[in-house]
Amino acid sequence: MSNYHIKHLEEYYQVYRKSVRNPEAFWEEIAEEHFVWRKRWNNVLSWDFKKPEVKWFDGAQLNITENCIDRHLPTRGDKTAILFEPNDPKEEAEHITYRQLHQRVCKMANVLLEKGIKKGDRVCIYLPMIPELAVSVLACARIGAIHSVVFAGFSSNALATRINDSDCKLVITSDGSYRGAKTIDLKGIVDKALEGCPGVETVLVAKRIHSNIDMMPQRDHWLQPLLDDAYGDNVAEIMNAEDPLFILYTSGSTGRPKGMVHTTAGYMVYTAYTFKNVFQYREEDVYWCTADIGWITGHSYIVYGPLANGATTVMFEGIPSYPDFGRFWEVVQKHKVTQFYTAPTAIRALAKENLDYVEKYDLSSLKVLGSVGEPINEEAWHWYNNNVGKKRSPIVDTWWQTETGGIMISPIPYVTPTTPTYATLPFIGIQPALMDENGQEIKGNQVDGRLCIKFPWPSMARTIWGDHERYRDTYFSAYKDMYFTGDGALRDAVGYYRITGRVDDVIIVSGHNLGTAPIEDSINEHPAVAESAIVGFPHDVKGNALYGYIILKETGESRDKNNLRKEINQQITEQIGPIAKLDKIQFVSGLPKTRSGKIMRRILRKIASGDTSNLGDTSTLLNPEIVQEIMDEAL
Ligand code: PRX
Repeated sequence: MSNYHIKHLEEYYQVYRKSVRNPEAFWEEIAEEHFVWRKRWNNVLSWDFKKPEVKWFDGAQLNITENCIDRHLPTRGDKTAILFEPNDPKEEAEHITYRQLHQRVCKMANVLLEKGIKKGDRVCIYLPMIPELAVSVLACARIGAIHSVVFAGFSSNALATRINDSDCKLVITSDGSYRGAKTIDLKGIVDKALEGCPGVETVLVAKRIHSNIDMMPQRDHWLQPLLDDAYGDNVAEIMNAEDPLFILYTSGSTGRPKGMVHTTAGYMVYTAYTFKNVFQYREEDVYWCTADIGWITGHSYIVYGPLANGATTVMFEGIPSYPDFGRFWEVVQKHKVTQFYTAPTAIRALAKENLDYVEKYDLSSLKVLGSVGEPINEEAWHWYNNNVGKKRSPIVDTWWQTETGGIMISPIPYVTPTTPTYATLPFIGIQPALMDENGQEIKGNQVDGRLCIKFPWPSMARTIWGDHERYRDTYFSAYKDMYFTGDGALRDAVGYYRITGRVDDVIIVSGHNLGTAPIEDSINEHPAVAESAIVGFPHDVKGNALYGYIILKETGESRDKNNLRKEINQQITEQIGPIAKLDKIQFVSGLPKTRSGKIMRRILRKIASGDTSNLGDTSTLLNPEIVQEIMDEAL
C-alpha cells in the first residue's frame, strides 16, 4: 500500500490512524520516498507548543526548487509546468515547460544574485498574475532569499508597511496590470510606497502593459534586459530544513498585519502530499486554482504543491467576469481542466448570472471541484455541484489558513462521501480538537466549539516575522498545548467538521481576511471622524460585507453625509485597498460600550444583520440608551 496516494475510504482511515499513532515514522516515510534531499535529517520532529517551537526534518538539507523543477527534467522536461492564461482571451496562452521554467527561474535567480541578494535577504514581490510572479517566487527559493509576496490589490500604504516590517531590500513589480477591461498602475503604487521605505535598494520592473512609467535612476531596472543577459543555469543554494522559505502577511484582529513565516522542508512535504490527495492528481491532469499567488492558496496550490508533483498548473491573469461571466468555463473547456479550485464568493457571483454562461461550454474534462477561503453555503454548493460538476465531480470543501500552510480538513475526492457545507474529515496527520470556553476539550460527536489543533503538522507557520511573542499569544495562549485557529466548528454525528466562521474580530469578505482594527484605524484618521466600529454582516455574494458605525466630530456633523461616506471609503482604499471598503456606513452619536470601555460588537453585529429580535443582555452597558437609537437609524 502506498501511503502517498489514498484511493478509498478504508485506506484513508488506516493511513490516518497510522499518521496519528506514529507521526514521525509516517512523515519520515513520505519524505524519504517522494522528495530529493541533499542531506538526510537527524530528527523527524521536535516540538514544544509552550515556546512555541516546532522543527520538522531538522538537520536535513535541500532546495525546494530542485524538488519542484530540476528533478522533473529527465522525465518531464517537455511537459507544461505553468500554463499561463492571459487576461485577454484573444492573447495566446503560454505553455511553459519544466525545462523552460528551469531556465527562467535560473536566470531570475542570477539577476537577483547580481543585484546583491543573498541567502536570508527578504525580497518583496508585487506583481500581477503573470509568469514572472511564479518565476520570482521560485528564483528567491533557488537562492535562499525569503520571498514576501504582497497581493497586487493592496494599496501603497499596505505595501509599505509590509516592505518595512520585513526589511525587504528589493522589490519586483511590473509597469502595470490588467484587470478585466481596466489597467492598474502598479509601478505608481510601488513608487508611492517606497517614499517611506528607505531599505529598498533595487526595484526590478517587468513589462506587462507597456505604459509610460517613471524609472528612478540607479534604483529601478527593467527586468527583461537583465534576464536576457543572465546565465541560464544556477546552482541551487543548499537550505536547511528549517530555513525560512517565505513570509506571507495575514490580517490579525488587532494591530499590524502578521508576517507568517513558513520554513522549507515541512512545508514542501505537506503541500505536495495534500495536493496529490485532495485533488487526486494524476500525471496527465491539467490543474487550475483561480486564486492569486498573493494569497497562501496560490503559494501552496498554484506554485509549490503542484510543481512538487510535476503537475501542469494553470495561472490565470484575469477575472471571472471578463470579457463575460463565462470566462472560467471557457478556460476550462479550452485547456481541458481536470481540477478546478476556487472560492465560494466567485461561485456565488457566477450563480447570479444566466446559466447559459456555464452551459455553453464543454466541462466534461472536470474531475474534481474545490472550494476554499470561507464557508460555502448550501445554495452555492448545489449550484457548483449541479451546473459545473454535473453531479459527477466531487466537491472538496477545503478548510485551512495562511498559518497552516496546507489543507487541514477536507474530503478526499472519490474517497470521502461529501455533505454540503461540511469540510468533512481531518486530513492525514491532522488532529483537530473542539474546545469549550473554559479551555476543556469537547469530546464526542454532535458538538460544537472552538477549533484547535493538538499536534504539529509539517507545514505549520513557525513564527511571526520579528514578533515571536505575538505568535505565541495569538495562537498558543488561548488553550494549553494547542494551536488555536480562531474559527468555530461543529462535529456532526459521523465526525464530519463544519466550519462555522471566525470567533474573533477577523471578518472574511469575499474570501479575504480583514481585521477590524486596521480598518477602524484608517477611518479614525479622517479629520471628521471621532470614533468607529466595524462589523461584518451577511452578503449574498461576498459572504460577509463590512458595516461601519461612525461617530463624527462636531466639525463633521454639518458635512454632506454621502460625501463623507465616499471620502471614508477613499481613505480605506488608499490605506489598505479596495477590498476593505465599507458597504454600509451609519453615522451614530455613540457606540454601545461596556463599563470597561470595550465596544460591544455582538450588539452591533446583530443590528447590522437586521436581527434585533434578541440582543441579549444590554444591562451591563455604560450607555444602554444608544442601542435603540442605533437600531432606529440602522441601514
Ligand atoms: O475562517 C476560516 C476561513 O478562512 C480563514 C483563513 O483565511 P486565510 O488565512 O486567508 O486563508 C484562506 C485560504 C486557505 C479560516 O480561518 N476558511 C478558509 N477555508 C474555509 C474557511 N471557512 C470555512 N470553510 C473553508 N473551507
